Amino acid sequence: MTAPTVLRFGVFFQGVNFSTVWTEPESGSQIDFESFRRLAQTAERGLFSAFFLGEGLRLREHLGRLHQLDVAGRPDAQTQLAALAAVTSRIGLVATQNTTYNDPLDLAHRFASLDLLSGGRAAWNVVTTDNAWTGENFRRGGYLDHADRYRHAEAVVVAAKELWAAWAADIADSPDADAWSAGAPSPTVEVDTGHYRARGRSRLPQSPQGRPVLFQAGDSAEGRDFAARQADVIFSAHSAFDDAQSFAADIRQRTLKAGRPADDVKIFPGQEFILADTDAEAEEKARWVRRKQVTPQTAIAFIENIWGTDLSGYDPDGPLPDIDPVQDVTGETRGAGFRAAQAKTTADAWRERAEAEGLSIRELVIRLNSGRGFVGSPSSVAATLQRYADAGVVDGFNITPWLVPSGMDDIVDRLVPELQERGIYPTSYEGNTLRENLGLRPLDSAALARRTA
Ligand SMILES: Cc1cc2nc3c(=O)[nH]c(=O)nc-3n(C[C@H](O)[C@H](O)[C@H](O)COP(=O)(O)O)c2cc1C
Repeated sequence: MTAPTVLRFGVFFQGVNFSTVWTEPESGSQIDFESFRRLAQTAERGLFSAFFLGEGLRLREHLGRLHQLDVAGRPDAQTQLAALAAVTSRIGLVATQNTTYNDPLDLAHRFASLDLLSGGRAAWNVVTTDNAWTGENFRRGGYLDHADRYRHAEAVVVAAKELWAAWAADIADSPDADAWSAGAPSPTVEVDTGHYRARGRSRLPQSPQGRPVLFQAGDSAEGRDFAARQADVIFSAHSAFDDAQSFAADIRQRTLKAGRPADDVKIFPGQEFILADTDAEAEEKARWVRRKQVTPQTAIAFIENIWGTDLSGYDPDGPLPDIDPVQDVTGETRGAGFRAAQAKTTADAWRERAEAEGLSIRELVIRLNSGRGFVGSPSSVAATLQRYADAGVVDGFNITPWLVPSGMDDIVDRLVPELQERGIYPTSYEGNTLRENLGLRPLDSAALARRTA
């Protein structure tokens, strides 16, 4: 039998999102630096590999009404991480940034800066972003379709890798003015994605980890193939055991096909952990957490995602709407998660379930969100994680705390020691860089500048 995988943790500070409960006396602020600092330092005490931030470039809205939780704000991820680099020393700093709206060479330079200033702890979670209405913040009118977004994304990432590799340290360190004036320390990098053209030079040497680590989040076949060719880590939504198993098999096969060792791309699903002294207490706590997460307005916004129309007149404690989803509302007024083709099927399935189980709108949304998460005593959750480690179906979990900033305390103080005792969690940081602390292979110069046909 092969040795179990050593699991690693990241913490995903979700900011605006209904999965964090912001209304308890213990809840912190979504925007105060103290929340980020406390969470990151607790995670670092627990030897977490990464502190992870998502990206939302626009307040989510339906038909002109803003989502309740979004108005509390979300500071830019790279800015937050630059501040956190100063008060942490080992934990990796991962910023989600989309390839669709950023200028490629500028974005690559900002990541190189964070990587250098943090001593080799930066990572970029590459997304193409499915929030069609995000586009309004940037360019009115044009919005890339799905396949184009991935073609563009790959050209952006390849250009970033070239830029990060384009610094000849031996010449940069030399006092030879001729070599400098010929531009030799930093050869020109060209980017032409079909939608965007630029030419530039690196303005920075490489960090101790060579270049920022690349995460990828995007689940379509195009997204998975893109990750298999370009990413170091996939942030997935496939955390349930059977789902994680088939996802891992799929990604490993795609990675092999891309000409890389099957385990070259690490897999980190997002996951919620709810712990208490006993399993029964944890179940009770989970029920309480779900009710806090799904407020009446959240319940309505959740079903509006599928119906695509204003449902604010419906009672969250009443039955589901008997009208059918609006099929012709464009993505611009709809939030992430909406799939036009599935709207009617999903609405029918939800109505059927609500009727069969006697559920109100809010109760149904609570049920729909109850499947995710590990719930139990620290030793039961450790036993669950042992199964994942033995089967090698994930490399770790990106934990989404339901409470900020104290939501990592019990995981670090009670779960991590159980996992260490089982030999499935690190007992110290393996190195100083994120690449080392994720167990990634060192970069060779070919990988540093990997170009893929
Ligand atoms: C686990 C996960 C996390 C994501 N996080 C973000 C995010 O923080 N910001 C964002 O704009 N998009 C995010 N996305 C959406 C992706 O950008 C992408 O647009 C979307 O998944 C559609 O691509 P796909 O069809 O390949 O999945 C995320 C997707 C996944 C699967």
